[in-house]
Amino acid sequence: MATSVKLPVSEFAADVWAGLRAVNQKKLPPKYFYDDLGSKLFEAITLLPEYGLSRADERVLARCAESVAARVQRPCVVAELGSGSGKKTSHILGALNVPELKYYPIDVSSEALSTCSRELGKLALVEPIMGDYFHGLECLSRKRPAKSQLLLLFLGSTIGNLERSEQREFLRAVRRRLRPGDLFLIGADLVKDVDRMLVAYDDPANVTAAFNLNLLARINRELQANFDLRCFVHEAVWNPAERRMEMYLVSREEQDVRVGALDLTVHFREGESIWTESSHKFTVEELETLAKDSEFEVLDQWGDSEWPLIETLWRA
Ligand SMILES: C[S@@+](CC[C@H](N)C(=O)[O-])C[C@H]1O[C@@H](n2cnc3c(N)ncnc32)[C@H](O)[C@@H]1O
Repeated sequence: MATSVKLPVSEFAADVWAGLRAVNQKKLPPKYFYDDLGSKLFEAITLLPEYGLSRADERVLARCAESVAARVQRPCVVAELGSGSGKKTSHILGALNVPELKYYPIDVSSEALSTCSRELGKLALVEPIMGDYFHGLECLSRKRPAKSQLLLLFLGSTIGNLERSEQREFLRAVRRRLRPGDLFLIGADLVKDVDRMLVAYDDPANVTAAFNLNLLARINRELQANFDLRCFVHEAVWNPAERRMEMYLVSREEQDVRVGALDLTVHFREGESIWTESSHKFTVEELETLAKDSEFEVLDQWGDSEWPLIETLWRA
């Protein structure tokens, strides 16, 4: 049960308001993980031995970068949805080897964008765009030169954080913002052995737990809440029907939490959870169908022998 009197002000506040007042399942959007500390914790996750996804993504990008670059016409620009630190993108920018190449990382995290600008500044003219994917794509369509071809990147299986029901519409919306001939490279994690996935999202060093719990700490910091992080536990489960990993924060006890900025009191039963992330896993056929349904042509795809993941290159 939640009580209220004040209207939320920011988008974050509005989403926390709606998510914590949900009657059946409390839920928070995963994009709010990525404040400064959250982005650093995500970078730490990518270094964990259990989180094979990032290393596989990087291995495949290193291997396919020349083939991708060979498809790109000049003049060109590169943009990236949810760039994060952009570490893996260096392979693509290096292979393109275009003097004064413009690269537009689009991300909600200012910390990620400043790391990205620092890391990739030697390979391209980095013009960060801070904000949501579609805000970024709108800015990009105003900034990019009229005759340039765009290579748009969406790496790290971030597409898997969208609900399955949203993925097709999301890709169609991206397609509408591209010009015919633009290229779209997506890194997507494939369905694999359940034990490998469980430990990837619940590592023994508890870095993923810290990443998940930081969402409550962010609400404490930014919305004057009083979540006691010791009273919540990180949980990662495989949902076989939906083919996705799900992350939750589970209340260890019955408790009330106050969110001062929203004048909101949120009640938790013992064992009640907040659903914080879904990471959908794909099949190659499913990605091909998604490409077709969103009016892209699949040009090429590359996989990894150690960690099932695919890099798929589409043309608008
Ligand atoms: C899973 S991380 C992946 C980062 C990087 N692409 C990689 O492969 O390592 C997701 C990134 O997308 C950003 N992000 C999440 N939701 C977003 C949204 N709706 N709009 C823009 N960026 C978003 C996050 O800040 C984060 O940097």
